[in-house]
Amino acid sequence: MNKPYVYITRTLPEEIVEPFRETFTVKMWGSKEQPVDREVLLEEAGKADALITMLSDQVDEELLSKGENVKVIANLAVGFDNIDIKAAEKKGVTITNTPDVLTETTADLTFGLLMATARRLMEANEYVQNGDWKNWAPLLMAGHDIHHKTIGIVGMGRIGEAVAHRAKGFHMNILYHNRSRKQDAEEKLGAVYASLDELVTQADFVVCLAPLTPETKGMFNKEIFKKMKSSAIFVNASRGDNANEEDLYEALVEGEIAAAGLDVFENEPISEDHPLLSLQQVVALPHIGSASVETRKAMMNLCLENVQLVLNEKEPKTKVTS
Ligand code: DGY
Repeated sequence: MNKPYVYITRTLPEEIVEPFRETFTVKMWGSKEQPVDREVLLEEAGKADALITMLSDQVDEELLSKGENVKVIANLAVGFDNIDIKAAEKKGVTITNTPDVLTETTADLTFGLLMATARRLMEANEYVQNGDWKNWAPLLMAGHDIHHKTIGIVGMGRIGEAVAHRAKGFHMNILYHNRSRKQDAEEKLGAVYASLDELVTQADFVVCLAPLTPETKGMFNKEIFKKMKSSAIFVNASRGDNANEEDLYEALVEGEIAAAGLDVFENEPISEDHPLLSLQQVVALPHIGSASVETRKAMMNLCLENVQLVLNEKEPKTKVTS
């Protein structure tokens, strides 16, 4: 009998894929970095029993209709806004994601980005590397304190709570805004629920960790930035589309907020001439929230395990439903 055919839209390390070759025929797109060509993906979907996709691959009706035999699509991310879940459900295709394994790593990066932005670490590093450091000076590269300040977390899912844990270690006051109340975080971390308006007016750090949905798209807009403190720092580590970048740029240039730490952008990769990148008070990263070697490997393994389970007619570990 033919082995099931699994197509992976990026080159993953052979050590991860190799154990699965006994049961599957695995083919990978020939690049670690470049996204798969859409035409190739559509063609491969037509042959595959399972796909492993990246957040840059659009899984829409067109792709689903080509993939007549596809039973499972395992997305290498916790976010799945690149996938039309309803269309997949209609076609009986199981969708999986990679929650939990990336929670702590993404929280580390989010808090690190907050710290780098507040304490101007990137700017300071560039200053030293450029040979500009000639003297110690009382206010040289002076940034903003983090400890004992107020953090406002928008999107108190697993990653939001893990960021709140880190914030507690820094003696921060923790506000959060979420679709539902988080009893555990309130009791254990002293996190206080706030409306979005209350949160943005009171927080020194506004951290967006909300998934991208029709409700959250563009939620950080002109009006919201205007309500923030002029000393506020905005951090986005979920999806770029949750913030309106033109409005963010305006808010930074007009001094309505002090700085922004961004791991995600409306269009990724962001172009090097994007206005936000011209601002010294912006720290920009290339969407590396979950990018530790350990975690990325765990995410890859989880994708492959999910594929194996579904192809063996078992429940996957982390199924996504609408
Ligand atoms: C995710 O998993 O959704 C992250 O954005 C990828 O780093």
